[in-house]
Order: sequence, then structure tokens, then C-alpha cells
Amino acid sequence: MRLTVIGTGYLGATHAACMAELGHEVLGVDVDPEKIAALSAGKVPFHEPGLPELIAKHTASGRLRFTTSYAEAGAFGEVHFVCVGTPQRRDSDAADLTYVDAAFAALAAHAAPDALLVGKSTVPVGTAGRLARTCDPEVAWNPEFLREGFAVEDTLRPDRLVFGVESARAETILRAVYAPVLAAGTPLVTADFPTAELVKTAANAFLATKISFINAMAEVCEAAGGDVRTLAEALGHDDRIGPKFLSAGVGFGGGCLPKDIRAFAHRADELGTPLSFLREVDAINMRRRDRVAQLARELCGGDVLGVRVAVLGAAFKPGSDDIRDSPALAVAARLRLEGADVTVHDPEAMDNARKAFPLLGYALTAEDALRGAGLVLHLTEWPQFRAIDPERAAMLVARPRIVDGRGVLDADRWTAAGWRFRALGRPAPEEEGQ
Ligand code: UDX
Repeated sequence: MRLTVIGTGYLGATHAACMAELGHEVLGVDVDPEKIAALSAGKVPFHEPGLPELIAKHTASGRLRFTTSYAEAGAFGEVHFVCVGTPQRRDSDAADLTYVDAAFAALAAHAAPDALLVGKSTVPVGTAGRLARTCDPEVAWNPEFLREGFAVEDTLRPDRLVFGVESARAETILRAVYAPVLAAGTPLVTADFPTAELVKTAANAFLATKISFINAMAEVCEAAGGDVRTLAEALGHDDRIGPKFLSAGVGFGGGCLPKDIRAFAHRADELGTPLSFLREVDAINMRRRDRVAQLARELCGGDVLGVRVAVLGAAFKPGSDDIRDSPALAVAARLRLEGADVTVHDPEAMDNARKAFPLLGYALTAEDALRGAGLVLHLTEWPQFRAIDPERAAMLVARPRIVDGRGVLDADRWTAAGWRFRALGRPAPEEEGQ
């Protein structure tokens, strides 16, 4: 089939490459000529395992091309996938639908009358119906659930497909697009527009709630003397709860969960069905950042003024160079404001971090970041950081003091190597006046 993918950011570039991999002729469309030039040359402007190879393979095979022209897209495509961003609005928690509306308006003007316009962007419930009423070509909604770092895998072998459709024709077209994925046994849920839109926002809300639940338990453990890691392990053995998304730490960030729960809460208020617990989920998440800063101050005897702080991690999670709403950088920037001399190291996200936070210091290696530090903060759980030898690290720093903001370092090993070690989700050890 001939498909177009409107928007070649994270979601769109992955979707375009994966659709070419499924055997379709794909045209990627973006208003940014630089992005289009890079992708046409097989270059991917972000870190995603397997994606550069897939884009290079299909730009070479001729099955994947890119353009800035909606007229070309309209003339080419039988099915158009809209994958543009829905960032948080500046003036409220609502989603900014400017790019979605513009993409549908442009497609309505250029697409063939019998084309299918398929929204994939995460939108407030009600958007698909509104767009369907204003566009001539038929509209469908097909949310995605891809995780950064596993985007190709999640697109080619998703847990489920969701088709929001208003006609048998739209369902038949989408079944044809995803035929190889369905043939592999992927469950398909067909739904009306509001349900299809809600699947995505509800899934993200549930995941965020699970993380904030365990982080709230971490707060209780800190006060009551428990250990949240052991608690999560025991909870996770219950099949009904499951072990995933129960890692307590400095909280969730990224381009999706934070903005999506805010937009969902905002939309629910508009609908008169408030989801006020989502505001608490957000608040718990933010309090974890405060807690890391508080532990940093405590370890430094009250404040961090003039302390050389090594921050291990800048990406919002390991396996990504994405720093959007990164808890690591939020904490780093706060300590800088409090007068610390902060040096950040991250295996992948250094360029992005440097652009967004030019006032922080950056080190090319973890060792360089540690050298001479008076305090170390472990804030993104890259495997490289877990592999750091605490004895060797103790020789590099000026003062062996560390906060493990991700709860994955071995407290006994670090303490045995002479470190004052503090973690989220456990009580502070009795300090021996160091
Ligand atoms: C998320 C959803 O998982 C995905 O389905 C959706 O399409 C987009 O949003 P992503 O943002 O790539 O994907 O990251 P994810 O792996 O879900 O992690 C989100 C954040 O939660 C990260 O900051 C991560 O560090 C944090 N997290 C995750 C925890 O703090 N604890 C956990 O147990 C799991």
C-alpha cells in the first residue's frame, strides 16, 4: 500500500521505517526541511536502537522517501498517518493541538477523497470525532504505545493494536496495513473513537500511577524505617500486581507520561469527571526530586553551596538520549541554583543536555565527573553506572558521599568502600558524625 506519515519526530520516523519494513511504500512528511534532509540521507536525529539501520535499509530500497510537500503527500497516499506532537500548552495543563489540527487541515486540502486519515498522536478524548466532522476524507484513530529505546520492537511486535473506526471500510484498510502484525497473532481491539483515544491516555495514566504508588510507599518507608525495594519485590510476586513499573526512584520523566497525565486530568475536568488522583500522582512524582535535593543538602551538612556535585545521568531513562522533563537534569539544575558546582555525565544525552542546560558543567566520562567531587548523585540507571567500582570511585572523589536516586546500587558494597550512602525509599542510617 502507499502510506504517508505526517510528522517525522520520534513516533513518525519509527512508524514510517516500520511500515516500510512491513512491505509498504512510505512517504514521510515534515515541515522541517533539515529533518527531511537528514532522514533522506539515512540519518536519525535521536538515539533509538535499530532505527538508523531500518531507515538506511529502506531509503536504499526506495520503499521509504521523505518530503516537505503536503501536495506530494496527498497525491501519493492511500492512507495517511498523523504522528505530530501534542506538547503541553504553555498556559495550562491541556494538550496543544496546533500541530494535529494543522496536519489534518493540510491533509483535508490535499488528500484523495477516498483516502483514510489515521491519527496516531496522543490527544484529548473527543478530538477524533471533532476532526472527523471537519474533514472530508474518512478519519480513523490508531494510538501507539511505543517506549523509547524499544520503539522499533514495540511497533513491529506490539502488545496489541487498537483501531478506532466509524466504518467497516476503515477497519478493512487498517487490517490490510497491519496484515503481517495481525498474522503474527497480535491482539486487535476495535473501538469507537472515544474509547480508542482513551486507551492511550488511560494506559499512560495507569503506568504513571503505578510508579507514583511505589514512590509514595518509598516516602512511607523513609519515615517508618522500611525498605521500598524489598516491599516492591514482595508486592510484585502477586500476579495481580506484577513486578513491572514498581521501581521506586527519582520518578518518571520523558516526553509522554508527565504531559499526558496533566492533559488527561485537564480533559477530565472539562468533561465533569475529575481525575484528581492524577494531580496527586504528578505531585508525588515531583516530591521525589525535592527529596533527592534534600538528601544532597543533608549529606553536605545543610547546604550544597560551593560543593562540587557529580551528577550521573541526564537522560530521563537509560537507553535514551531524551532529556525532556528529565528528573536528573531537574535536580542538577536545582542544586546549581542553590550554589553547587555541578558536573553532569551521561553516556548518550550529553549534547541534548548541554543545549538545554548550558550553565551546568559536563564531563566526557563518569570518571571525569567523579574526580574531585564532594557529592555524587546517581539519577539515571544506566548499566555503566551500576558497574562503577565503589573502591575505585572513592579514590577519585574528594569526599565519598553518594545519593542513589534510582535504588539500584548495592548499599553494602558502597558503604564497605567508605561511602556515606543515602537512597530513596529507606530510612537514613545512623550517622557516626562524619
Ligand atoms: C511511556 C510508555 O511506557 C509508553 O507506552 C508510551 O507510549 C509513552 O510513554 P517512555 O516515555 O518511553 O514510554 O518511557 P517508560 O519506559 O515508560 O518510562 C517512563 C519513565 O518512568 C522514565 O523516566 C522511567 O525512568 C520511569 N520509571 C519507569 C520509573 O521511575 N519506575 C519504573 O518502575 C518504571
